Amino acid sequence: MKSNVLVTYASRAGSTRGVAEAIGKTLSEAGMQVDVLPMQAVEDLAPYQAVVAGSAIRGQKWLPEAMQFLSDHQRELRGKPFAAFMVCITLSMKNADQYREGLKSWMEPVRDQIHPVSEGYFAGALDFSKIPFSLNALAMRLVVLVGAWKQGDHRDWQAIRAWAESLRPLLLS
Ligand SMILES: Cc1cc2nc3c(=O)[nH]c(=O)nc-3n(C[C@H](O)[C@H](O)[C@H](O)COP(=O)(O)O)c2cc1C
Repeated sequence: MKSNVLVTYASRAGSTRGVAEAIGKTLSEAGMQVDVLPMQAVEDLAPYQAVVAGSAIRGQKWLPEAMQFLSDHQRELRGKPFAAFMVCITLSMKNADQYREGLKSWMEPVRDQIHPVSEGYFAGALDFSKIPFSLNALAMRLVVLVGAWKQGDHRDWQAIRAWAESLRPLLLS
């Protein structure tokens, strides 16, 4: 029987959805039965043997709906292999490596609830035409103006696939 895995995501402008879909595709090519769903569409985790969950980062945090998903399903998630990922723009920076260790602390609130078997950290995309106006969005534009962050799609599909491939034995355990 094929193992049943849920890949679920919280995304506002779509780039995290694309990362989740790529993870799902890699796992299904590795022979797993995979559902890829937005967190709001997940009702029951009982059919799944393992869960991979990821969120876009805003203000150095998983999105509120992603944290809500964790607390809503905490008991079930603790009983299954669980892997977590985040998608952010910091990892698209030229000097991203110097931030890589530090931004692991953004996953701390996730780890506090459910300890992941693996954590994935990925660069995302920034497209102001997809971001509604807010003070935070304005602050982001300033960071782009000073040249620290760049608009565009910075997703590294090879890194995403490599992480997904590394998950297979961990999710089957
Ligand atoms: C209002 C806002 C706040 C953000 N805050 C951060 C942040 O604190 N750190 C970071 O690295 N990226 C930040 N980002 C960038 C997003 O994490 C990145 O664009 C991601 O790819 C968005 O995912 P989505 O397309 O699935 O919504 C922010 C983006 C927006 C629009």
